[in-house]
Amino acid sequence: MSPETARQVSALIDRIQTQFHEGHRRALPELLAMAATVEARGIDDGLVDELRAIGNALEQHMFKEEMRLFPMMEQGGNTLIGLLIEDLHREHVAHEHAMDALRAHLCTLTEAHGTDLALHQLIRGLDDLACQLALHIRAEDEELFPLFATPSSPGSPSTFNPPSPATSTT
Ligand SMILES: [Fe+2]
Ligand SMILES: [Fe+2]
Repeated sequence: MSPETARQVSALIDRIQTQFHEGHRRALPELLAMAATVEARGIDDGLVDELRAIGNALEQHMFKEEMRLFPMMEQGGNTLIGLLIEDLHREHVAHEHAMDALRAHLCTLTEAHGTDLALHQLIRGLDDLACQLALHIRAEDEELFPLFATPSSPGSPSTFNPPSPATSTT
């Protein structure tokens, strides 16, 4: 990996952690409290569990990135990074589906409780989280992950550990 790419990777990882990982961790407890308020008003009884499941999946995903993916990337990548990236990308799709399902669920609640202020606050809060999550996923899927794309031919990009110099002589 060139020094320029290494700087780019490092700056992207910093931005992702500060803006998105820390941002989601701040937002989720507030949103859970809002969901509990909505439930306490007798509007629905599965919102807290549904949101908690999303928050737990997101936390496990971010932890995996912070403990495994980001350190691997900061060391220049290795032959296993492609599998990890595929796995994390599948989780991104699952997070977005779960968020869509929760927001669709809330939308159905507005039919009977359209004037409830707590419900509207929760909907707005979840809209913000969904927007931040979409930006987060885009930064990883479209900016960070492509820097470690699987090479089309053996030994092409610098993200894979090259064989020792002795094996490449003729
Ligand atoms: Fe992330
Ligand atoms: Fe991610």
